[in-house]
Amino acid sequence: MAPRAMPRKATAAHRIRAVPDLPAPAPLSPPLPLRLGEHLASDLARRFGTPLYVFDAAVLRQRLAAVQLALGPRVRVLWSIKANPSVAVTRVLRIAGAGCEIASLGELHVALAAGHAAADVRFAGPGKTAAEFAAALPAGLGTVHAESLAEIELLAAAATALDRRVDTALRINLPQELAGSRLRMGGKSSRFGIDEDQVPVAVAAVQRHRCLRLTGLHIYGGTQCFDAAAFLRHAAALCQRAADWERELGVAFTDIDLGGGFGVASYAGDPEFDLAAAGTGLRQLIAAHDRPDRRWFVELGRYLAGPAGTFLTRVVRTKHSGGQLHAIVDGGLHQHAAAAGVGTVLRRPPLLVRADDPSRRTGDPVTVGGPLCTPADQFAEQLPLGPLGADDVLAIHNSGAYGLSYSPTGFLSHPTPAEVMVDGADIRVVRERGQPTDVLRGQHS
Ligand SMILES: Cc1ncc(COP(=O)(O)O)c(C=O)c1O
Repeated sequence: MAPRAMPRKATAAHRIRAVPDLPAPAPLSPPLPLRLGEHLASDLARRFGTPLYVFDAAVLRQRLAAVQLALGPRVRVLWSIKANPSVAVTRVLRIAGAGCEIASLGELHVALAAGHAAADVRFAGPGKTAAEFAAALPAGLGTVHAESLAEIELLAAAATALDRRVDTALRINLPQELAGSRLRMGGKSSRFGIDEDQVPVAVAAVQRHRCLRLTGLHIYGGTQCFDAAAFLRHAAALCQRAADWERELGVAFTDIDLGGGFGVASYAGDPEFDLAAAGTGLRQLIAAHDRPDRRWFVELGRYLAGPAGTFLTRVVRTKHSGGQLHAIVDGGLHQHAAAAGVGTVLRRPPLLVRADDPSRRTGDPVTVGGPLCTPADQFAEQLPLGPLGADDVLAIHNSGAYGLSYSPTGFLSHPTPAEVMVDGADIRVVRERGQPTDVLRGQHS
């Protein structure tokens, strides 16, 4: 009988072969380029030119739906047109269910052009003029938010002259600031709203004028509020004061506008606003103060539109100076002041990415600035975006609010950027690019 083969002693070589083969290193996956709707951002830049604002209708609808869901069916969400006076943006939000509030006659025109009924529009702002009332009241304006005793008299005069009865709400300057908001508009001596101790006089003034009908109260304590609890405390303070004044003054406030100012991350390191917490707290607050005749409002600009907009700008050229690489882009502070840090105390880069590789976190440091002759025209210092070259496209996220309209467009007389709206595969120009000759419009030598 043939001897059985002895098992071979495992050698080092065998042991290595016994280990299952390690997977071959995966090839580096190519970066996913930035898409807006169903379009590549770089294609949009090529097709429509730069600098370019791109608004995404689907994101606008999603933002409004999320807010509406969180705050519940008793709250009517008002779009603050000041955040972006785009007729197209305003129209998308109207169709999705938002009301609107305005702060000028120009914004009334935007509201009407977007299909809002004038009767649905609410007009706030500390400097309303007789001319504005004379134009807005015949159009059928819904409600005026009076911000001072003198304004009540002016409004009454305009309403009497036009033989109209005007729904009038009082904007209140609560003694407490809206903590947690970056830019506060009240809580101390302020040109916004009526101080609490003047409310009895203001109520009496509205009641004295048969042409005015007292409908409600309004607060707006500040913008970029990242503290939902602070927003709720502010709202609760108004509800409490409303109940006190109703009892003390024998009036009924049907409309309660609790303001808004929900914050949106706009610069590196910004936190997120806790919408769910704001919604839960607000539902409880409303339940405690609700009545069948009550109408509740929250007014939002940035939270609805900020994340729905992207600013695209193209690198004109790069250069080395003082050991740093600079990318000079064709868009600047005059078209997107907020992204250049105008209005912020501590300068931080905006959410600036490469259109071809938006998630890149490492790269050669580049300083990105626009074409203006001021050092303030800079979006970012030494961000790891490089290598960058002429014609590369950069994108600034969260540019759907306080973009062009917050910018000093007249500085250096460049044309204003075009604006396009994407909606899935659809795309259309919603604001034509300006012309270099626009600077001559209305001028006389
Ligand atoms: C009275 C009033 N309502 C609404 C807004 C919109 O604020 P945000 O864009 O922060 O929501 C502002 C902004 O300044 C405002 O002053």
